[in-house]
Amino acid sequence: MNQDNIDQMSRIFKASWDIYETILAHDYMAHKRIFPIVERACVDFSVQSGNHPVSVWELGCGSAHYSSQMLRSSPLASYTGIDLAPNVLEVAREKLKVLGCPITLLAMDLFDAVQTTGQEADLVFSSYALHHIHPVARKAEFFKSLFNKVRPGGIFVLVDLFRDDGQSREEFLAGYEQMIRTQWTSFQGAVLEEVVSHCRTHDFPEDPTELNRVAVRAGWSNGSELCRFGFHRVFLFSKPRL
Ligand SMILES: C[S@@+](CC[C@H](N)C(=O)[O-])C[C@H]1O[C@@H](n2cnc3c(N)ncnc32)[C@H](O)[C@@H]1O
Repeated sequence: MNQDNIDQMSRIFKASWDIYETILAHDYMAHKRIFPIVERACVDFSVQSGNHPVSVWELGCGSAHYSSQMLRSSPLASYTGIDLAPNVLEVAREKLKVLGCPITLLAMDLFDAVQTTGQEADLVFSSYALHHIHPVARKAEFFKSLFNKVRPGGIFVLVDLFRDDGQSREEFLAGYEQMIRTQWTSFQGAVLEEVVSHCRTHDFPEDPTELNRVAVRAGWSNGSELCRFGFHRVFLFSKPRL
């Protein structure tokens, strides 16, 4: 992403944060149902790794509202959160204190962060941020770079919006817009239109087959689906042990 795009996206997420808080409060994107399942996967990963403290990255962490609670169940060596919106990272900083491990928060593009960091991670987590990266060739580059930064045996847990296999972006957006208009009833008038317009402009979900294809090409295992709540799905990718 070039600097103009980064600045523009950062402004958008900063300005829309109140709207996002409403989405979280009403569980419109299924966080309350998804995060216990991801928490179980993280605990299982820790147990399989011999309960050694793991280094975690969260890409597009936002306020870390749910992740800060979820990660409390796993022994952590460190937590690094990356997000474009610096004001939201300040909220995250407070919430993440419960983890009791060294915390690093970086206000930058997640794609750039993964490409440039000199550190390695055991467990990478991302929730509702990757669909902002497009086109799919850029997601492919992202999966490759991430693969090189994750230790053998490490995992990438991806919560995101997904198209159905064979569904076009336009068909996805029509369905998502209909869901917003009929089920996200806290939003009315201009705010409702802003939410719909945000999705139409910034959301580029892939279908699972396509995303698995780019992941496997980058060296990851075929993603296993942990759960699905309509458009909102969770996949776990593993990096094979040496
Ligand atoms: C829909 S919110 C999700 C926040 C949080 N992960 C959650 O599930 O509640 C998307 C977040 O991703 C961040 N984001 C979007 N594109 C990004 C990018 N290219 N690099 C870093 N952060 C990004 C936004 O600033 C925002 O905080």
